[in-house]
Amino acid sequence: MKKLFVKTYGCQMNAYDSARMADLLAPLGYAKVDAPEGADMVILNTCHIREKAVEKVYSELGRLKTLKAEKAREGGRMWLAVAGCVAQAEGEEILARQPVVDMVVGPQSYHRLPEMIARAAREQGRVLETDFPALEKFDSVPATSTTGVSAFLTVQEGCDKFCTFCVVPYTRGPEQSRSPETILREARQLADKGAREIVLLGQNVNAYAAPGSDGTSWRLAKLCDAIAEINQVARIRYTTSHPRDMADDLIAAHRDNPKLMPYLHLPVQSGSDKVLEAMNRQHSSDAYRRLVEKIRAAQPGIALTSDFIVGFPGESDGDFEATLKLVRDVGYATAFSFKYSRRPGTPASTMRKQVPEEVMTARLTCLQKLLLDQQHAFDDSRIGSTVQVLFEKKGQRPGQIMGRTPWLQPVHLSADAALTGQIRQVKITQRTANSLHGVLA
Ligand code: SAH
Ligand code: SF4
Ligand code: F3S
Repeated sequence: MKKLFVKTYGCQMNAYDSARMADLLAPLGYAKVDAPEGADMVILNTCHIREKAVEKVYSELGRLKTLKAEKAREGGRMWLAVAGCVAQAEGEEILARQPVVDMVVGPQSYHRLPEMIARAAREQGRVLETDFPALEKFDSVPATSTTGVSAFLTVQEGCDKFCTFCVVPYTRGPEQSRSPETILREARQLADKGAREIVLLGQNVNAYAAPGSDGTSWRLAKLCDAIAEINQVARIRYTTSHPRDMADDLIAAHRDNPKLMPYLHLPVQSGSDKVLEAMNRQHSSDAYRRLVEKIRAAQPGIALTSDFIVGFPGESDGDFEATLKLVRDVGYATAFSFKYSRRPGTPASTMRKQVPEEVMTARLTCLQKLLLDQQHAFDDSRIGSTVQVLFEKKGQRPGQIMGRTPWLQPVHLSADAALTGQIRQVKITQRTANSLHGVLA
């Protein structure tokens, strides 16, 4: 058995890809381990979204250099591959600057890893693969070997939106959707292996559109309906959605498909129309408000979440106030917020009026306080009620089990771990910083 260590940075799609890479290498005798020490192969599945994410990768490479040298002293060889979005964006540069790296493989070409390993071994050289070979990779990756109670399933890749701050259209390529048949096959396999919840993934998952063998064009709502027909699947989620692609049939599915969870991650980034325009988001803040109203009319209890960027170039105090106002108007269950990070090659990186670091810090603190208050209010509103919890895994403390509400809130309670994979009524008794506690009802 050879030891494979995979470290994942970035979004859920990278997590999905990491699992696929492990599946791909299993037939070559690689089994996953939890630490890089002594590994025969290390894959860093990287994220390029913000400068900090990229810095982490380079510092990890420094650490791996030592481990690789140790392995060589013992007469072994540690293959080191950089995968993911940094690989795509800075592949050549990584090879030039980091002699420790043997392979660079982009997010759309990792199905070629086995042949890359063979090539590197044969030629004692270093290999780079950063093509965008359409949907070929999904056809070339074997069925998944293991799954948890909640399983990721990538249905859509890439982005055509070109928000001016974002690297994703460059690292993941154009929007592409997998065929409904291959998705349904994978969903059934996941269900057979024990998944009770399927989380459909895509950089723009609600832009999903693909021809089915029934001759019609499938959209995300129809895909969710088809997955709902798999008996063992109790819950369906999807992420990440763009407001522009939030179509009426999908909104209706939140009303009509009982397996589609009342939860929607709908990033807005800013509440200022001027900033939204400069970001190329192609909708106004009021259009977003109206969209939220429509979604809540279809599914009143839905938990809404978002991403925010503070300090986009040119963002004034007034623009930031507009973001706070939007947050107050909408009321989020939780949200992610980030300081704008200047990404080389994106249009925003050369815009004038970059916002000073200390202004960004102050705005982020202020926004995060408001968002945390909203999160706590949302969580508190469940206390005393009885909700359906899907148990995912053992809890941190002995005798505890961890599950999630329909609104994705983690719940901890004392119960037998044998309940893993089951849904039970739980009475919520208490909220802690980031989770809920309860008792079996
Ligand atoms: N496709 C999704 C988001 C993908 S990236 C969407 O359209 O919303 C995830 C989040 O990272 C984004 O929503 C954004 O808030 C943040 N992000 C992307 N580029 C960034 C940058 N240059 N600086 C700071 N945050 C960024
Ligand atoms: Fe990036 Fe915008 Fe595409 Fe989201 S929609 S991935 S933020 S370019
Ligand atoms: Fe990061 Fe690439 Fe995902 S840049 S957020 S890993 S799409």
